[in-house]
Amino acid sequence: MAKGSQRVGHEHDHSQPNPEKTAPDSAKSQAATKPALSAVDLRDLESELHQREIALIEREIKSLRLQEELERLRPLSGLYRVVKSMATERKLDALLETITRETQNMLKCDRCSVFVLDQEKSELWTQVAQGLVGARTIRIPMSGTAIVSHCARSGKIINIPDAYKDERFDPAVDKHTGYKTRSVLCVPMRNREGSIIGVFQVLNKLAGPFTSEDEDWLEALTAVASGLIEQAQAYAEIESFVDKTLEVLAQTIDKRDPLTAGHSVRVTNYSLLIGTGLDVIAEDLDVLRYSAMMHDYGKIGVPEAILWKNGRLTPEEYATVQKHASITFDLLNNLPFTKRLGAVPFVASCHHEKLDGTGYYRNLKGEEIPFLSRIIAVADVFDALTSVRHYRNRMPIEKVAEILDAGRDNHFDIRCVDAFDKLPSDRVLKVMESERDRNTSEDISPFQQVSWKRLVEIVSGSRAKRGEEGLKEAFERMYNFGLPKDYKPLD
Ligand SMILES: [Fe+2]
Repeated sequence: MAKGSQRVGHEHDHSQPNPEKTAPDSAKSQAATKPALSAVDLRDLESELHQREIALIEREIKSLRLQEELERLRPLSGLYRVVKSMATERKLDALLETITRETQNMLKCDRCSVFVLDQEKSELWTQVAQGLVGARTIRIPMSGTAIVSHCARSGKIINIPDAYKDERFDPAVDKHTGYKTRSVLCVPMRNREGSIIGVFQVLNKLAGPFTSEDEDWLEALTAVASGLIEQAQAYAEIESFVDKTLEVLAQTIDKRDPLTAGHSVRVTNYSLLIGTGLDVIAEDLDVLRYSAMMHDYGKIGVPEAILWKNGRLTPEEYATVQKHASITFDLLNNLPFTKRLGAVPFVASCHHEKLDGTGYYRNLKGEEIPFLSRIIAVADVFDALTSVRHYRNRMPIEKVAEILDAGRDNHFDIRCVDAFDKLPSDRVLKVMESERDRNTSEDISPFQQVSWKRLVEIVSGSRAKRGEEGLKEAFERMYNFGLPKDYKPLD
């Protein structure tokens, strides 16, 4: 075939003479002399065109179907995001928030709530009903008239296109919340055994009522969410068990002596305040919490006669007290901490190490000391000095601040002391006064506006600026509350 030929799509039949090779002026006579050939060619062309037309239409249909398919599968990306969050989110609250946010996007609806069944109280509760300002937890009785209660009792999907025309809908709920419900879709959540563990509810589809496809998607999402929620609940139970167990263990040490009661809890809370101020990540905050809680656990191996001694310790006695850090490590190291909390024994046992290497019991220096232990060191010393001890009273806070300052860069990590200084003083006071038997009725809210460092300055005699009036007196009333009249600081 000649170059530039307009014939496309089918092979040229070489048994037939090629019309293009014929002289142009003979074209007319050629058409007349060879009509059969032209008819064949035309038929071919026609069939070719027809086929091409069909192919085009088919392609068009395919593309339309693909678009429809894509639109139909759009919720899949929402499902994917929720499943992905499974790998990263173990905490129930955060998980529920992710699920509801993604469901709203997926189903293009106004609201989404995950109701979790509280078996003991036979109630359905939700924490994330968006738009209800100040009402983060809603509890609904299983036996009630709400749609979610119907759904949980029947175990069936409920799809209501127009709530006000449906007898199962109780308008009192809208009256209470000020929300206008139009369409409702509820899907029951089940655990692996098939028992109801909650209800997924979506409200007010943005365009029209919820379709059967929405039902399918919500069912799929519910299946994923149920597994995640079950897992998060189990995780929360284990976490709370571990938390409580360690707290009770720590208290067995604190409670041996009324004067140290609450020390572990306070050191934990101060440590968490410092850690949060330094933007320590959530997982490390957990290590910090458990380490701080257990830091003095090794004191179980120190005789009470030495721990409770009324007066200064002899060098031998002091050496015995120092052993508590290594005992803490040995005891904690026997506990099967999860990988996530694996650093707890080491972090806890380093709370008496000093940056310059003069601490105990491993004589670690600088960066060798875990950062979390450096936080606990500040919290521990601060609490020891601001608490009454057998051998001395609460130390005046100017003196406490001096000791912390003097320890910068030799005992303490400067960053940790700085972070403590910057804490709002009401937070510090709340921890400081939390475990005291004698409760002052002092209002600590005026302290919100000044940092701990500033409060120390005011108490030390710095002139009170506007809004700081009366803080010195209020602090002193609180700090010295209940101390004997002949109170004399020993240090
Ligand atoms: Fe200690």
